[in-house]
Amino acid sequence: MLRAVYPGSFDPITNGHLDVIERASHIFEEVLVAVAQNDQKKPLFSAENRIALIETVTRHNPRIRVTSFDGLLVDFATSVSAVALVRGLRAVSDFEFEFQMALMNRKLQPKIETIFLTPREEFSYISSRVVKEIARLGGDVTGFVPENVAFALADAYHPQPPSQP
Ligand code: PNS
Repeated sequence: MLRAVYPGSFDPITNGHLDVIERASHIFEEVLVAVAQNDQKKPLFSAENRIALIETVTRHNPRIRVTSFDGLLVDFATSVSAVALVRGLRAVSDFEFEFQMALMNRKLQPKIETIFLTPREEFSYISSRVVKEIARLGGDVTGFVPENVAFALADAYHPQPPSQP
């Protein structure tokens, strides 16, 4: 089983992430989307909610599985016998951090390769951080995230009071 781990915060998943996941699923027999439980980043959505949002939009593809992980990424990837880590590269600005992470992960576990995939150019300016800001300020996030995520963002930032009977 040629398995890759696609790790990230996914707070929340965007259409750019989904594009990378689909591309990875054409290369690997299984893509394990691994949601980092990293509470240092104070995520908007719990790991359980992030997983549920991703599962809903990847259900159509039998090569994709979703889980969470804690601790070192290379330890998790080793524990699931992954041969590669997948990361998306949107622009040159991503490169420095991604390069450092890839080399550090290789130092920690030389058997696991990092593969970079580039999402479609119309997704290159999307990030979870910017999408959250737009949603928080009441802007329209259609086209940046799947529908279930747009609903979850609206609910998180602008919860509607329950309707009276
Ligand atoms: O979506 P993000 O926030 O860019 O994902 C970053 C993530 C979660 C992949 C990275 O922070 C990570 O791998 N965290 C796990 C802890 C770890 O292994 N750190 C050393 C990486 S060099």
